[in-house]
Amino acid sequence: MRVSIVVVEELHKRYGENHAVRGLSLSIDEGEVFAIVGPNGAGKTSTVEILEGHRTRTSGRVEVLGFDPETGGRAYRERIGIVLQEAGMDERFTVRELVSLYAGFYPAPRAVDEVIEVVGLTGKADERTKTLSGGQRRRVDLALGLIGDPELLYLDEPTTGFDPSARRQAWDVVAGLCEIGKTVVLTTHYMEEAYRLADRVAVVAGGQLVALGTPEELVARTSAGRSVLTFLLPAGVSGADLPPLDGEVEVAESRVVVRSLSLTADLHTVTGWAGARGVELDGLALERGSFEDTYLELIGAGEPRG
Ligand SMILES: Nc1ncnc2c1ncn2[C@@H]1O[C@H](COP(=O)(O)OP(=O)(O)OP(=O)(O)O)[C@@H](O)[C@H]1O
Ligand SMILES: [Mg+2]
Repeated sequence: MRVSIVVVEELHKRYGENHAVRGLSLSIDEGEVFAIVGPNGAGKTSTVEILEGHRTRTSGRVEVLGFDPETGGRAYRERIGIVLQEAGMDERFTVRELVSLYAGFYPAPRAVDEVIEVVGLTGKADERTKTLSGGQRRRVDLALGLIGDPELLYLDEPTTGFDPSARRQAWDVVAGLCEIGKTVVLTTHYMEEAYRLADRVAVVAGGQLVALGTPEELVARTSAGRSVLTFLLPAGVSGADLPPLDGEVEVAESRVVVRSLSLTADLHTVTGWAGARGVELDGLALERGSFEDTYLELIGAGEPRG
């Protein structure tokens, strides 16, 4: 059964004249990894920090785990974990001291050394945080978000500054949380991260929801994210000689690009046609559009390819 643990209705946030969040409504289910993506200044951090109880809202209804985050106080904070987009940390402490300190804020924290290990900082556990690199500090932030064993974890651009292997480790951490039923609210500028981790993705721009759905639904809704079939026209064959296809066919020079929702059928038609004529289709390939292409099309940036 789907249980919504985050409900946002008609959320608005104004900073003076700047209307940063403009009537956002969404709900997030228990056990879901929910990603919020959008351009710089779209209102992601404003929204997430309102959910966390770190910022006040101008208007709208927000309910998380049955609390209004503005008034939920300690009872609310004990059930959530937070990785802020920009977190300052006390540099006098070692990694282990800092994680232990945070463990003390929660009723049933995870084991300190286990969490340090999960974020890949075992070798740095006794170093003061001021001696750490940017990516290592970000791992400390992640450890501080995990230590309370929260039901709901907010991750605001958690992997910014991570090297590729650290990013994959972080993805495993998030996927592991989700397997044991935790809920994760994630913002990211890495579309592959959203695509791989999220059950659903909300695309926001200008403080408004532009699209919401599973990654596959969003891909299907755009032409840019779809796979395309490409090949070179055999010698002596023109575009007009091609068999009828479901997809949209574009011939440039001798390169044929087929954008289709029924690629299997179109691939079958094309290869059957070539086989019957005894011709080879050079450069025959299925190319998958990236989720970044889908995202760019949804926010209306650049020229969609379809
Ligand atoms: N504390 C603040 N005071 C005034 N304006 C703010 C404040 N925080 C954010 N804003 C403004 O609100 C808008 C949304 O900012 P927000 O940080 O929510 O965007 P974002 O989607 O998280 O962007 P990014 O991808 O760059 O992190 C921006 O125009 C920003 O200038
Ligand atoms: Mg932000």
